[in-house]
Amino acid sequence: MIGSNGVHVRSGRASVVRSATFLACAFSMACGAPAAGQQPDLAKRIEQCVACHGADGNSRLERVPSLAGQPEFFILNQLFLMREGVRKIEPMADVVKDLKDEDLQALAGHFAKLPPKASEEKVDPDLVKKGAALAQRLRCASCHLPTLAGQEQMPRLAKQRIDYMVLAMQAYRDNTRSGADTAMTAVIVGANDDELTALAHYAASR
Ligand code: HEC
Ligand code: HEC
Repeated sequence: MIGSNGVHVRSGRASVVRSATFLACAFSMACGAPAAGQQPDLAKRIEQCVACHGADGNSRLERVPSLAGQPEFFILNQLFLMREGVRKIEPMADVVKDLKDEDLQALAGHFAKLPPKASEEKVDPDLVKKGAALAQRLRCASCHLPTLAGQEQMPRLAKQRIDYMVLAMQAYRDNTRSGADTAMTAVIVGANDDELTALAHYAASR
């Protein structure tokens, strides 16, 4: 099982890189080599992000998601949606508004490569068990992969913050996440808060 998942993840990553490049090129005609002098600029941008998302991409702030180990394409896609004002995140509005396509791609590449770490939140074993059963019934793995490491536009759930995942799932269910992918809403439309909490404990524990 682990072996076959490993293969899955690796082949997934290869195609992520390809589609990320494709997407960035589709955004604008400027998809050549990065401009000289981009590196110091990138470091400055990363510094802004990690004030909230954690120095190593693993968030220690309540309700702020970790970015470490997210599929590159997921991060790129979300940043694009944010810059275009489709996914509205008030505290991030200023930092994303002036980013160029190559900045989005460089930031996505940076955070995707960092190793994900579980947060300091307490994982409840009873909720993990309940969440595992629900996850099987609702087929979370069919999109987020059996390891819940995510793929393409589907985010990593494993080791993500519990408080953030509960918030995110409530927002999908209640139709309050701007720019949300309706595939996700359809999955949890009938779930109550206790069930969402159990799912988050299970996902974080993977
Ligand atoms: C002032 C704090 C803050 C700063 C600075 C910030 N973010 Fe965020 N970011 C957030 C919060 C809060 C959310 C989750 C919002 C929500 O959905 O409720 C978020 C969400 C995200 C997401 C979506 C993640 C997911 O799992 O859905 C990405 C990607 C992201 N930020 C990338 C960045 C990058 C890259 C930077 C730097 C250019 C940055 N952020 C700067 C607070 C911040
Ligand atoms: C049909 C495919 C599909 C299935 C099945 C699915 N998801 Fe998702 N999920 C997605 C997609 C696509 C996104 C990103 C959506 C977006 O861009 O708004 C997502 C996003 C999420 C997020 C937000 C994470 C973040 O970092 O912002 C959470 C949490 C989540 N899913 C949990 C689950 C759980 C738990 C299950 C099983 C109960 C599940 N998903 C089943 C497709 C799916």
